[in-house]
Amino acid sequence: MLTAKLPHQVCGQYTGTRPTLLDRKFYMESADTICYCFHVTKRKILNFIRLHRPRVASQISECGGAGTGCGWCVPYLKRYFEDAACGQAAGSESMTPAEYSAQRAAYIQAGHGTPPPGAMPSSPKAEPPSSV
Ligand code: FES
Repeated sequence: MLTAKLPHQVCGQYTGTRPTLLDRKFYMESADTICYCFHVTKRKILNFIRLHRPRVASQISECGGAGTGCGWCVPYLKRYFEDAACGQAAGSESMTPAEYSAQRAAYIQAGHGTPPPGAMPSSPKAEPPSSV
């Protein structure tokens, strides 16, 4: 299902807790992977949106196949698309890269999506323990 909105993002409206500048170093950065199935970073996705100006969020899949594997990253891709459509800078995710990875692993383990062969991490058991 591709309808989930992240809690603090509604176009033009602040609806939740935003990390402080001090917190930001612990949150997702441009070099962090958003689509683990196809090894697509946040930077690649944001650059794709800026340069190609997709008309619908699903066109972001043309950026290295992002979102076409297990489906975990699709709400994030949609949020980046909506942020760009609203003229907002891409928001910061309210989780660390380790938390993001662990939540994806749990999503897959719960049977919500199947990553393609060779996707990273290939199974939840391959996840490094969270240090948070
Ligand atoms: S993490 Fe992007 S489709 Fe699986």
